[in-house]
Amino acid sequence: MWQNFFEKEKKFLNPYIERMKNYKDYIMYEKEKMNLYKGSWKEYFKNDNPIYLEIGSGAGNFIARSGEKVKDKNFIGIEIKFKRLVLAAQKCKKRNLKNVLLLRRRGEEILEFLGKSEISGLYINFPDPWEKEKQRKNRMIQQGLFDNLDVIMKKGGKIFFKTDHKGYYMDVLELMKDIKGYKIVFNTEDLHSSDRAKENVSTEFEDMFLKKGMKINYIEIEKEV
Ligand SMILES: C[S@@+](CC[C@H](N)C(=O)[O-])C[C@H]1O[C@@H](n2cnc3c(N)ncnc32)[C@H](O)[C@@H]1O
Repeated sequence: MWQNFFEKEKKFLNPYIERMKNYKDYIMYEKEKMNLYKGSWKEYFKNDNPIYLEIGSGAGNFIARSGEKVKDKNFIGIEIKFKRLVLAAQKCKKRNLKNVLLLRRRGEEILEFLGKSEISGLYINFPDPWEKEKQRKNRMIQQGLFDNLDVIMKKGGKIFFKTDHKGYYMDVLELMKDIKGYKIVFNTEDLHSSDRAKENVSTEFEDMFLKKGMKINYIEIEKEV
């Protein structure tokens, strides 16, 4: 099992690695298997419903709630932390969802396992802000992400970005001025007072920030047709 993730066996293995095996209907962790589905994920879901991707699904509140609420969409969540994958899978299993799959994979690798125009939308909820100037190159939302979306996202598809971090929000607004083929269709510094509040599905980080009385920044970006 560990061979899926590390080159050498480790002295201490995260116990959640083994536990992922108990959720085979919800977690896929073998890279080769994921790559084989490239361009044919509809065969995995056994329907033609649109596929939405979430990068950094965390402990899965958003993806499990979305899968339960919107049955005619399929959701693929990618996440690197083993414990969070297991927690997310438990939430999907409890709801007996057939339209959600979690992949143990990095957001930077989406071209390896998603085919041309295969996704209809992308959710990025509270990604790490990488605050320090030197670390910014690690941010999920940057030119490279749009280069990948040029390939894997349908025209007219949308990117939905939520963050508590005002700096990240402002930087993405600025970045979008230089990104060709995409346009901002909605943005707000206070999602929960906006007209998108009603349809919003909250995440675990979002619930935590709201409890602290913080406001949620939100941007919706469309791939032009
Ligand atoms: C701040 S948490 C937010 C979790 C969840 N989206 C939420 O809103 O509650 C960021 C998540 O992204 C995951 N993550 C960080 N870098 C990633 C990457 N390169 N690929 C996939 N997931 C990543 C982390 O493990 C973590 O669970």
